[in-house]
Amino acid sequence: GLIRKPAAFISTICDERGQELSYCGVPITQVLERQLGVGGTISLLWFQRELPEWACKFFELVLIVTADHGPAVSGAHNTMVTARAGKDLISSVVAGLLTIGDRFGGALDRAAADFCAAYDRGQHPQEFVNEKRAKGELIMGIGHRVKSINNPDSRVRELKAYVTSRWPTWPVTRYALDVEAITTRKKPNLILNVDGIVAAAMVDLFRHCQLFTQEEGNNYIQMGSINALFVLGRTIGLVGHYLDQKRMKQPLYRHPWDDITYMSPLH
Ligand code: ACO
Ligand code: LMR
Repeated sequence: GLIRKPAAFISTICDERGQELSYCGVPITQVLERQLGVGGTISLLWFQRELPEWACKFFELVLIVTADHGPAVSGAHNTMVTARAGKDLISSVVAGLLTIGDRFGGALDRAAADFCAAYDRGQHPQEFVNEKRAKGELIMGIGHRVKSINNPDSRVRELKAYVTSRWPTWPVTRYALDVEAITTRKKPNLILNVDGIVAAAMVDLFRHCQLFTQEEGNNYIQMGSINALFVLGRTIGLVGHYLDQKRMKQPLYRHPWDDITYMSPLH
């Protein structure tokens, strides 16, 4: 019989061999004709299924509101400094992306895991906050450097309005909002931030909206697929900052001495 060489790779999301490229079995012309959009493309290539319109539109909403948050944040700053050091687009964008993590823009996965676990074990939000405090841990998805209850984040407001009106059920988002109600009593800037609201909404999408099995939902939460939304969104802004610096032919950046405290141990 025919002896096949075992394949070195298995791929399940995209096939470019036939006449027409297909995303998870859907020919590209259909993706276009049916106007599945960027959200539908994410749905096929990341989650191997056609999620409903309300979920795909949510991905697009997240991409729009996370696309940029000004030049002062870690990611944009790194991209601008790198561009001004004469580096190319990919180096500059990657330099910005590398700042994404637990403190900045990359708190979604851990926020999702923590909110999900606390909700699953039926822990009261106050107990959750107390436990985190007792362990000396920050609550992922809570807190912002400049936004607060007195200076609300309109991105969070829009995302919250979308989820609470379009999700069939959103218990973990409710849980995260209950946590916010407690933390903002301590300090007004301890709001549910962009990372936190997207994380909670995605847990609801994976776990409570009957679109994924329990195991699939848990796996996607653990794999890093929620941070991916911020990474993809913010890449739009980082490209913008790179082009902006190049367009204006900005010179090499050197940080001013008067903004650095030199504290050599010998003096
Ligand atoms: N959970 C519990 N307590 C917190 C949290 C938190 N997430 N964030 C700050 N605090 C407390 C601090 O312990 C501190 O308490 P203290 O005054 O009793 O010492 C107080 O609030 C002020 O803390 P700062 O570090 O000054 O807060 P800052 O404004 O610098 O931090 C930050 C902002 C980095 C976002 C922080 O809140 C944090 O790390 N949050 C968790 C990670 C997160 O969600 N990051 C994503 C932010 S949104 C984005 O990047 C798109
Ligand atoms: C962002 O989207 O970059 C932020 O919310 C972080 C910030 O400090 O503005």
